[in-house]
Amino acid sequence: MSRAMLKPILIHPDPRLKKLAAPVDDLSDELRALASDMLETMYDAPGIGLAAPQIGVSKRLIVLDCIKEEGATPRPMAMFNPEILASSEETNVYEEGCLSIPEVFAEVTRPKEVEVAWIDSDGNARKEVFDGLWATCVQHEIDHLDGKLFIDYLKPLKRQMITRKMQKLKRELARG
Ligand code: NI
Repeated sequence: MSRAMLKPILIHPDPRLKKLAAPVDDLSDELRALASDMLETMYDAPGIGLAAPQIGVSKRLIVLDCIKEEGATPRPMAMFNPEILASSEETNVYEEGCLSIPEVFAEVTRPKEVEVAWIDSDGNARKEVFDGLWATCVQHEIDHLDGKLFIDYLKPLKRQMITRKMQKLKRELARG
Protein backbone atom coordinates (compact mmCIF):
# COMPACT_ATOMS: atom_id res chain seq x y z
CA MET A 1 0.00 0.00 0.00
CA SER A 2 1.27 3.43 -0.81
CA ARG A 3 -0.20 6.82 -0.24
CA ALA A 4 -0.39 9.41 -2.96
CA MET A 5 2.35 12.00 -2.89
CA LEU A 6 2.12 15.57 -4.04
CA LYS A 7 4.71 16.40 -6.69
CA PRO A 8 6.31 19.80 -7.27
CA ILE A 9 5.09 21.35 -10.53
CA LEU A 10 7.68 22.85 -12.90
CA ILE A 11 7.22 26.50 -13.78
CA HIS A 12 7.78 27.84 -17.31
CA PRO A 13 10.41 28.52 -18.65
CA ASP A 14 11.98 25.10 -18.12
CA PRO A 15 13.64 22.94 -20.80
CA ARG A 16 11.79 19.87 -19.43
CA LEU A 17 8.50 21.49 -20.49
CA LYS A 18 9.73 21.76 -24.09
CA LYS A 19 10.66 18.11 -24.61
CA LEU A 20 8.83 15.49 -26.64
CA ALA A 21 7.67 12.90 -24.07
CA ALA A 22 8.29 9.20 -24.67
CA PRO A 23 5.45 6.69 -25.14
CA VAL A 24 4.65 4.38 -22.23
CA ASP A 25 5.26 0.81 -23.37
CA ASP A 26 4.72 -1.11 -20.16
CA LEU A 27 2.01 -0.21 -17.66
CA SER A 28 3.83 -0.87 -14.38
CA ASP A 29 2.54 -0.37 -10.82
CA GLU A 30 5.04 2.45 -10.60
CA LEU A 31 3.35 4.25 -13.50
CA ARG A 32 -0.09 3.66 -11.98
CA ALA A 33 1.17 5.17 -8.72
CA LEU A 34 2.58 8.09 -10.68
CA ALA A 35 -0.86 8.68 -12.28
CA SER A 36 -2.50 8.68 -8.87
CA ASP A 37 0.14 11.09 -7.49
CA MET A 38 -0.51 13.35 -10.48
CA LEU A 39 -4.27 13.36 -9.81
CA GLU A 40 -3.66 14.26 -6.14
CA THR A 41 -1.25 17.00 -7.22
CA MET A 42 -3.78 18.33 -9.75
CA TYR A 43 -6.69 18.41 -7.27
CA ASP A 44 -4.46 20.01 -4.64
CA ALA A 45 -3.21 22.79 -6.97
CA PRO A 46 -6.18 23.10 -7.82
CA GLY A 47 -6.35 22.39 -11.53
CA ILE A 48 -8.38 20.41 -14.09
CA GLY A 49 -5.47 18.77 -15.90
CA LEU A 50 -1.82 17.84 -15.48
CA ALA A 51 0.73 16.23 -17.79
CA ALA A 52 3.71 14.14 -16.63
CA PRO A 53 6.32 16.53 -18.11
CA GLN A 54 4.98 19.19 -15.72
CA ILE A 55 6.38 17.17 -12.82
CA GLY A 56 9.61 16.45 -14.72
CA VAL A 57 8.64 13.00 -16.03
CA SER A 58 9.07 12.78 -19.80
CA LYS A 59 6.37 10.14 -20.39
CA ARG A 60 3.12 10.27 -22.35
CA LEU A 61 0.75 10.37 -19.39
CA ILE A 62 -1.91 12.96 -18.58
CA VAL A 63 -4.59 13.24 -15.93
CA LEU A 64 -7.71 15.36 -15.98
CA ASP A 65 -11.04 16.01 -14.32
CA CYS A 66 -13.09 18.84 -15.77
CA ILE A 67 -16.05 18.43 -13.39
CA LYS A 68 -16.12 21.77 -11.62
CA GLU A 69 -19.70 22.08 -10.35
CA GLU A 70 -19.98 22.15 -6.58
CA GLY A 71 -21.16 18.78 -5.26
CA ALA A 72 -20.88 17.01 -8.62
CA THR A 73 -19.27 13.57 -8.72
CA PRO A 74 -15.62 13.86 -9.71
CA ARG A 75 -14.43 12.07 -12.84
CA PRO A 76 -10.70 11.51 -12.44
CA MET A 77 -9.15 10.25 -15.65
CA ALA A 78 -5.62 9.01 -16.32
CA MET A 79 -4.62 8.56 -19.95
CA PHE A 80 -1.49 6.74 -21.06
CA ASN A 81 -0.35 7.42 -24.65
CA PRO A 82 -3.34 9.66 -25.44
CA GLU A 83 -3.77 10.39 -29.11
CA ILE A 84 -6.18 12.64 -30.99
CA LEU A 85 -7.85 10.59 -33.73
CA ALA A 86 -10.12 13.30 -35.12
CA SER A 87 -10.90 16.98 -34.55
CA SER A 88 -14.02 18.96 -35.45
CA GLU A 89 -13.94 21.80 -37.95
CA GLU A 90 -15.95 23.83 -35.49
CA THR A 91 -13.83 25.65 -32.93
CA ASN A 92 -14.27 26.91 -29.41
CA VAL A 93 -12.56 29.68 -27.48
CA TYR A 94 -11.69 29.18 -23.83
CA GLU A 95 -9.71 31.30 -21.45
CA GLU A 96 -6.93 28.84 -20.62
CA GLY A 97 -4.50 28.68 -17.76
CA CYS A 98 -1.77 26.22 -16.84
CA LEU A 99 -0.33 25.03 -13.53
CA SER A 100 3.14 25.64 -15.03
CA ILE A 101 2.23 29.26 -15.83
CA PRO A 102 0.49 30.37 -12.63
CA GLU A 103 -1.97 33.25 -12.64
CA VAL A 104 -1.79 33.78 -16.39
CA PHE A 105 -4.93 33.32 -18.47
CA ALA A 106 -5.49 33.88 -22.18
CA GLU A 107 -8.02 32.95 -24.82
CA VAL A 108 -7.05 30.05 -27.08
CA THR A 109 -9.01 28.76 -30.08
CA ARG A 110 -9.11 24.99 -30.52
CA PRO A 111 -11.33 22.38 -32.19
CA LYS A 112 -14.63 22.13 -30.30
CA GLU A 113 -14.72 18.32 -30.36
CA VAL A 114 -11.97 15.74 -30.44
CA GLU A 115 -11.95 11.97 -30.54
CA VAL A 116 -9.21 10.63 -28.29
CA ALA A 117 -7.75 7.14 -27.92
CA TRP A 118 -5.71 6.15 -24.87
CA ILE A 119 -4.77 3.32 -22.51
CA ASP A 120 -6.40 3.52 -19.08
CA SER A 121 -4.85 2.58 -15.71
CA ASP A 122 -6.14 -1.01 -16.08
CA GLY A 123 -4.37 -1.34 -19.42
CA ASN A 124 -7.58 -1.16 -21.47
CA ALA A 125 -7.65 0.61 -24.84
CA ARG A 126 -10.25 3.39 -24.63
CA LYS A 127 -11.78 5.79 -27.10
CA GLU A 128 -14.11 8.72 -26.47
CA VAL A 129 -15.35 11.94 -28.05
CA PHE A 130 -14.87 14.99 -25.83
CA ASP A 131 -16.40 18.41 -26.27
CA GLY A 132 -16.53 21.76 -24.51
CA LEU A 133 -14.11 22.22 -21.63
CA TRP A 134 -13.10 18.52 -21.71
CA ALA A 135 -12.04 18.86 -25.35
CA THR A 136 -9.99 21.97 -24.63
CA CYS A 137 -8.41 20.42 -21.55
CA VAL A 138 -7.44 17.14 -23.21
CA GLN A 139 -5.89 19.02 -26.15
CA HIS A 140 -3.99 21.33 -23.77
CA GLU A 141 -2.62 18.33 -21.83
CA ILE A 142 -1.65 16.35 -24.95
CA ASP A 143 0.19 19.47 -26.17
CA HIS A 144 2.34 19.25 -23.02
CA LEU A 145 3.50 15.79 -24.18
CA ASP A 146 4.77 17.41 -27.37
CA GLY A 147 6.55 20.21 -25.50
CA LYS A 148 3.88 22.74 -26.36
CA LEU A 149 2.33 25.28 -23.98
CA PHE A 150 -0.90 27.24 -24.42
CA ILE A 151 1.10 30.46 -24.66
CA ASP A 152 2.64 29.09 -27.87
CA TYR A 153 -0.74 29.91 -29.49
CA LEU A 154 -0.43 33.58 -28.52
CA LYS A 155 1.31 36.38 -30.41
CA PRO A 156 5.11 36.43 -29.85
CA LEU A 157 5.05 39.73 -27.97
CA LYS A 158 2.41 38.51 -25.51
CA ARG A 159 4.28 35.23 -25.06
CA GLN A 160 7.54 37.05 -24.32
CA MET A 161 5.78 39.26 -21.79
CA ILE A 162 4.39 36.20 -20.01
CA THR A 163 7.77 34.44 -20.08
CA ARG A 164 9.47 37.46 -18.50
CA LYS A 165 6.78 37.54 -15.81
CA MET A 166 7.40 33.84 -15.09
CA GLN A 167 11.19 34.36 -14.94
CA LYS A 168 10.60 37.06 -12.35
CA LEU A 169 8.24 34.77 -10.39
CA LYS A 170 10.82 31.97 -10.42
CA ARG A 171 13.51 34.32 -9.10
CA GLU A 172 11.17 35.36 -6.29
CA LEU A 173 10.30 31.73 -5.48
CA ALA A 174 14.01 30.82 -5.44
CA ARG A 175 14.69 33.58 -2.96
CA GLY A 176 11.91 32.17 -0.79
NI1 NI B 1 -0.88 23.15 -18.74
